[in-house]
Amino acid sequence: MTLENAARDVRERAYAPYSNFKVGAALRADTGEVFVGCNVENVAYPEGTCAEAGAIAAMIAGGAARITELVVIADSPAPVPPCGGCRQKIAEFAGPDVPVTLLSVGGARLETTVAALLPGAFGADHMGLA
Ligand code: THU
Repeated sequence: MTLENAARDVRERAYAPYSNFKVGAALRADTGEVFVGCNVENVAYPEGTCAEAGAIAAMIAGGAARITELVVIADSPAPVPPCGGCRQKIAEFAGPDVPVTLLSVGGARLETTVAALLPGAFGADHMGLA
């Protein structure tokens, strides 16, 4: 299955009764495996989690460490942009040149990269850790 179809499928399983905005994310890890995530909302709104965060959690739980490719999809008029917090989460596990494909269910598409989504990213180097 393609990464795009994996994101499309997992989006259907999103739990989004409050926003009615279902999001799916699929990533390929350095192991070659595909991990997926969807948004999971909560009646206590800030406790909800984004699709990207779910896919990253699945990757780490599955024993992989790095993202090599990421696809995000939602039913939005324009390709869905990851929220600011997710951009930082993605940058934790993906190099600046990692390709990110943003899709809408209707067919809109934006090909971008981790660096383009989070210019000037705060990283381990700023803490003298890199
Ligand atoms: N959401 C995601 O899961 N990923 C994004 O990239 C944008 C927003 C979710 C969070 C919330 O459940 C719903 O979309 C509306 O903000």
